[in-house]
Formats: sequence, C-alpha cells, structure tokens
Amino acid sequence: MAEKPIILGIETSCDETAVSLIQDDESNLPKILSNVISSQFNIHKEYGGVVPDLAARSHVEKIDIITKKAIKESGVGLDKVSAIAVTAGPGLIVCLTVGLNFGKAMAMSLDIPFIGVNHLEGHALSPKLHSKIEYPYLLLLISGGHSQYLSVNNLGNYKRLGTTIDDALGEAFDKTAKLLGIEFPGGPKLEKFSKKGDPNKYNLPKPIINKGGCNLSFAGLKTAILRITKKIKTDQEKFDLAASFQKTIEEILYIKTKKAFQEFQEIHSIENNNFIVAGGVAANEGIRNKLIKVSNENNFKCIFPDLRLCGDNAAMIAMVGLEKYKIKQFDSLDLPASPRLPLDENAKFLKGAGIKL
Ligand code: KG4
Ligand code: ZN
Repeated sequence: MAEKPIILGIETSCDETAVSLIQDDESNLPKILSNVISSQFNIHKEYGGVVPDLAARSHVEKIDIITKKAIKESGVGLDKVSAIAVTAGPGLIVCLTVGLNFGKAMAMSLDIPFIGVNHLEGHALSPKLHSKIEYPYLLLLISGGHSQYLSVNNLGNYKRLGTTIDDALGEAFDKTAKLLGIEFPGGPKLEKFSKKGDPNKYNLPKPIINKGGCNLSFAGLKTAILRITKKIKTDQEKFDLAASFQKTIEEILYIKTKKAFQEFQEIHSIENNNFIVAGGVAANEGIRNKLIKVSNENNFKCIFPDLRLCGDNAAMIAMVGLEKYKIKQFDSLDLPASPRLPLDENAKFLKGAGIKL
C-alpha cells in the first residue's frame, strides 16, 4: 500500500508562528504528528494590540527554529513530506509574506507541491482534525479578527450567512478588558472576572439584535461600557460589569445563532445538522454552554474543536492542505499574500482583494 501523504502546514498570518505535520491514519482520519505554536503574546502586550512590524520580525526570527522543532517532534524525515501548505490570507501582509516565502522555498528545494490556504478555511476545517464530520455544516467563527456564520458546503464551497458589521467578538472582549484595566489580550481574564460578578447589574445594549439576519455588531456595546467605566470605582463593580458584558454576549449569540440555524436549514434539508464553533473565543465556557443550549433546543449537534485547536495553529492549515492535496489542488510559487481574503463563493487569492471582512 502506498504511504499516506504527509503535509507540513505553516501559519504566520498574525501573532503566532506555527508549524505542524499531519498524516491520515489507517482509517483515513487525520493524525497530528506535531503541532508547534510560538505565541508573540509577550512582544505585543505592552502596546495593547498586535504591532505588524514587530510581529513580522519575530516570525522571521523564529520560523526556521519552529519548523525544525515540528519536524523533529513528528519523527518524520523531511524527505517524507508530500506538500507544503501555507496561510496566504487573510492577515497582516508583512506576516503572511514571511510564512509564504519560507514555505515556497521549502517546496521548491524539496521539489514538492505548494498549497496556499485561506486562514478562515483552516478554522472551518479544524474540527475535522479530531472528529469525522460530513459536509455540509454550519460554522460560527469567533476570533480576534473575525466573527461570522458560514455554511460550509464542501471543501472550497462556503456561503457566508452573517458577519460582524464592525468589531470582531474577540476584539470586543479585548477592548472591554482594556477599559477594565486588563492587559491585552484580555478575553480570557475578562471571562474570569465575570465569574465573580452580578450579570444583572448593568443593562447593556444588544446592537442589531432584531435586524440584519444573523449579522453581528459589537461597537455600540463598547461605547456603553466606556460610559459606565468612567463611573465605577470598586473591584466588585468591575466584576459586575464583566459579568454583565459576558451575559449580553451570550444572549446576542443565542438569538443570532437561532437565526443562523434557520438560514442554514433553508439551504440544506438534511437529517444530521452539525454546528461547529471555532476561533479563540470558542474557548469561553459561558459562550460554549449557551451555544450547546441553543443547539439542543434546535436539533443541532454542537461541536467545538479541541481547545488547543481553537486559536491560531498550523495543524488546521495542514488539514486544508491535506484535503487539497487529495484532489491535486496545488498553487504556483507566484501566489501572492491576500490580506483581505474572505471565505465565500468569491474567495480568491488576489493581491489586496480589497474586500472588507
Ligand atoms: O483565534 P485567535 O487565537 O486568534 C485570532 O484572532 O485569529 O483568537 C484570539 C482572540 C482574542 O481576542 C482573545 O481575547 C479571545 O480570542 N479569547 C477569548 C477567550 N480566549 C481567547 N475571549 C473570551 N473568552 C475567552 N476564554
Ligand atoms: Zn484565526
């Protein structure tokens, strides 16, 4: 029997330098051979956000070390790698370029196929790294840069059902956390704060809750929080505000997810409806519980990627690479970085595609 293909994935779209090797096992389920992630958390925290030039410089410094480590941990020789899959967009152009150039050079020197991957497609397929999930399924992607509902119809076939019209959800968590004096990225700590507070203390707005289908909006929430933080003095008030924010987000997602279920079912009439929640914010326990509740009530099975696969990683990029490898969908070495690449019917790797996500 021919050996199963091994894909080396590279992710450098933002502030994680990540390399992973994956291969199908005997039952054709993907197996992660290694999954190395180096976060730049310490570099950016003093600036309250990711600084593109610093991020790119750090990718340049680390990409070879992380790649060597991933190859070593996989126990596989470089000569056994079948293809190199690299995030080509969306993301920070200076960061994407580091991974792309490194991956292209590897593919060229090893004389193996090169595959450009849409980062969002990586998140969309990440649960396939540990669960056998058939297409189509509904995806909610909630990260620092994206918040959208997508119908994942097939590999390369996505329909966007709703998206944020302003801030991403992770961004809303981080900005609120900053107003409460929590350092970047504040999402996880804000969740901890919320557990010590009264969720009914502050009545916060739920922007566009009854309009815009399953589009999302969080900017108005931030403005309301800013107004309240000017008045609060005690730690308990901070905890109460965090709890009220957490509760409001859960309620927004509950209502919008119900709408997304309806839209998904208007497109697909299938027996087993799967709902995948991916991206860094999918680690939030309160959000998880609320999304499981709304799924149970509406006959959807709610699936979360393993926690280590929720945030940015290269295993999910290798996963897309593996599916593309099987259908021989390779890219040429002049593939450009596409900083604004969306994930829907119009998604194409075009230089500066100029589409707002
Ligand atoms: O997917 P991710 O690792 O990176 C990208 O943005 O692509 O997501 C990071 C985001 C940050 O905004 C972070 O604050 C948020 O996910 N996050 C959380 C939690 N863990 C991570 N937000 C709320 N609750 C959490 N437990
Ligand atoms: Zn991401």
